[in-house]
Amino acid sequence: MANHTYISALKNPVFRIITQAASNLSLESYVIGGFVRDFLLDRGTAKDIDVVTVGSGIELAKEVAKRCPGNPKVSVFKNYGTAMLKTGGIELEFVGARKESYREDSRNPAVENGTLEDDQNRRDFTINALALSLNDEDFGKLLDPFNGLQDLEDKIIRTPLDPDITYSDDPLRMLRAIRFATQLDFTIEKQSLEAISKNADRIKIISKERIVDEIHKILASKVPSKGFALLHKTGLLRHIFPELVALQGIDEKEGQRHKDNFWHTLEVVDNIAETTDNLWLRWAALLHDIGKAPTKRFDKKIGWTFHGHEFVGSKMVYKLFKRLKMPLNDKMKFVQKMVLMSSRPIVLATDVTDSAVRRLIFDAGEYVEDLMTLCEADITTKNPRKFKKYHQNFQLVRDKIVEVEERDHVRNFQPPVSGEEIMETFDLKPSREIGIIKDAIKEAILEGEIPNEYQAAKEYMLEKGKAIGLKQKKTK
Ligand code: CTP
Repeated sequence: MANHTYISALKNPVFRIITQAASNLSLESYVIGGFVRDFLLDRGTAKDIDVVTVGSGIELAKEVAKRCPGNPKVSVFKNYGTAMLKTGGIELEFVGARKESYREDSRNPAVENGTLEDDQNRRDFTINALALSLNDEDFGKLLDPFNGLQDLEDKIIRTPLDPDITYSDDPLRMLRAIRFATQLDFTIEKQSLEAISKNADRIKIISKERIVDEIHKILASKVPSKGFALLHKTGLLRHIFPELVALQGIDEKEGQRHKDNFWHTLEVVDNIAETTDNLWLRWAALLHDIGKAPTKRFDKKIGWTFHGHEFVGSKMVYKLFKRLKMPLNDKMKFVQKMVLMSSRPIVLATDVTDSAVRRLIFDAGEYVEDLMTLCEADITTKNPRKFKKYHQNFQLVRDKIVEVEERDHVRNFQPPVSGEEIMETFDLKPSREIGIIKDAIKEAILEGEIPNEYQAAKEYMLEKGKAIGLKQKKTK
């Protein structure tokens, strides 16, 4: 093995502090994992640094803390034999080198102390097992027993041990393999990929939170479809998103075919990844068509239909988030809204009337641009003429949105006449009539019958009140 030394990776003074602390305890210490990998990949130096020591990680952490400015607090995770501290904007995690064996039914390992090499052996991938020495005698030396450096160069995800062992030891690693392949644009080596397919069912023992964490990272990548295609190929996808798997396939009846909505969805996700980093908009792209599987029908006259798939899909979003233990908060509501409204601008694109645009702005509110971004990403036609035409149509809708909003201000619609004023005018107690009048004013504005202004709305209120038999209060 070539004798590579990377002192330049260890410029941060904290590494010398670790060296001193370890030497004081007569321990060996190494920086390992993502920090080394990302440095060698030129992805910048990570803020999370994993340190492994041949001995007690907890002891070393305490010794390091004593030497750090401000004597930072050490958080100890006794069950895992690890300790963490924060200093100078970085997070240091200390662990004692170990040999591990896992119980069949859990990912919580039974831990035994080991050498550095034992520890490297039990890590997930060769590219994550790279370590740099923090010991005085060979500070910065790369320890790479599995040719991780070569795998970094060849862009390969490979496990240090037989992949069957590595993945069944900790099934989360199957997702990590796919996530790294997607994030870094690497290839998962053949044996490894086969082992993932073979062990895919074991993903069931992994907590939903950890699974979702990896999915977030896949979705946040430059080309997320790579990860979803791998999840599909290995059989992991059906355990995580059966709704997406159900979209795969093309049915043909009486010579009529529909598109494959699974592969279409992946294209949409890649498209949107080119225009936005908004993770939740990317989620919306991933889920925008999930209602199509349960609503698919064949009609002799019109062919394949997916009536109401947006509504059904938005309900499915809730169930999916709940099942994956994702927060059922405003992010979920945003995704639901995008799915629910995902076809609205398409309908508009062929006939852009002011009133339809006002309704779109009113319903989408502050998310109207996000909705347009989603719809544009949804254009996956391979016909260049249509592609251009659809984009031009959406540009017209976008222009119209700006024009209408400048004039009518319906984006954050506030009724120009308040409920109190209606009550006062007609001498009413809280009652249905107030709602009727308010609604009528809103409708008149959205339809363009009156401008979104106080005076016009007030006159309209008087007219409407009269029409439903209300009498104006007598003024002295
Ligand atoms: N590791 C592992 N098996 C896991 C998780 C982590 O072997 N299931 C090891 C790897 O050596 C990894 C290190 O622990 O490099 C640190 O893990 P983590 O911080 O989760 O990931 P990073 O590799 O640092 O990458 P990222 O920050 O992108 O998640």
